[in-house]
Amino acid sequence: EKGGYDYFMLKEIAEQPKAVADTLLGRIDSGGSLTLDEVRIPDSVLREVDKVVVVACGTAFHAGMIAKLAIEHWTRIPCETELASEFRYRDPILDSRTLVIAISQSGETMDTLMALRHAREQGAKVLAICNTNGSTISRESDAVLYTHAGPEVAVASTKAFLTQLVACYLVALYLAQVRGSKWGDEVRGVVRELSAISGEVERVLETMEPVRELARSLAGKNTVLFLGRHVGYPVALEGALKLKELAYMHAEGFAAGELKHGPIALIEDDLPVVVVVPSPRGRSVLHDKIMSNMQEIRARGARTIVIAEEGDEAVVPYADHLIRIPATPTLLQPLVSTVPLQVFACELATARGNEVDQPRNLAKSVTVE
Ligand code: M6R
Repeated sequence: EKGGYDYFMLKEIAEQPKAVADTLLGRIDSGGSLTLDEVRIPDSVLREVDKVVVVACGTAFHAGMIAKLAIEHWTRIPCETELASEFRYRDPILDSRTLVIAISQSGETMDTLMALRHAREQGAKVLAICNTNGSTISRESDAVLYTHAGPEVAVASTKAFLTQLVACYLVALYLAQVRGSKWGDEVRGVVRELSAISGEVERVLETMEPVRELARSLAGKNTVLFLGRHVGYPVALEGALKLKELAYMHAEGFAAGELKHGPIALIEDDLPVVVVVPSPRGRSVLHDKIMSNMQEIRARGARTIVIAEEGDEAVVPYADHLIRIPATPTLLQPLVSTVPLQVFACELATARGNEVDQPRNLAKSVTVE
């Protein structure tokens, strides 16, 4: 049932291009329009939405952080993303014009379920992004946009994450379509590129051998840091989470701009630091900023592992190790930049002799609060 792979996680990493394509299937027509028929919230209601709140846990929360950036940029609707376990305990302000998006692979995560119940009690509409048909979260929501990742067995979430991202982009683009977007041309371009993105994920998978080699060489390390900005920040958090849960290593993700406010004190000789570099096209100011972050940490001895777009030559002098990913629109980059981090964590776990599919102390779905 592992399809010739040693671990479910490896199989699920390899299934990502198909999972992404399946989640897009039938949702974008040949003219570039989105049809999300299953989202039974009428367009008239979506036009009135004045706030979006995304709630989720763990990896799904990282997808939600990226959803916030996409929703606010393309639709200009204020959006906040919050850990489901924190959400209802702060007495959040919600009403019938609030759209709550609950993201959950299993559809059984108790923290997320309690958050969505609280939101509905306050009159908010809840849209679930869920991978499991008939799960509690999908049954209790006003509407569901299913991710079509297929069953995910490994405790560490991989293909579910990529499909959650796709679903978040679809919701953001759909809201932009229904309400109009000041970035009309950009939105059309993104829809086109999103339709073709599974081929890019496939290309990343074909180039992972050096990442595996690098991971094996770091098996004796105690700490790995991850830095990113904008969409690269949740990707950094996701890379660190994967490493914690699989390799049982101290791993932390930071917004690169925060370094100088404290974490830079952690940098010491030969410390591996993974840097997720934004596209030099698009928001190039972000690119410039992360270049100076890399300079700062290298000056203090860090060993940089740089994930950067093909053709981004400016990063070469700052990279001790360079992992190339295909060029994508800025907001879509997590679909390709996360993949090397999954492979990295899986290989490090193997090298350290850990149980990859069933890490210690963890359950696949967390059904207690
Ligand atoms: O089933 P869910 O998506 O609601 O699960 C949420 C988290 O428990 C889950 O993503 C967890 O963080 C994974 N083990 C991460 O790999």
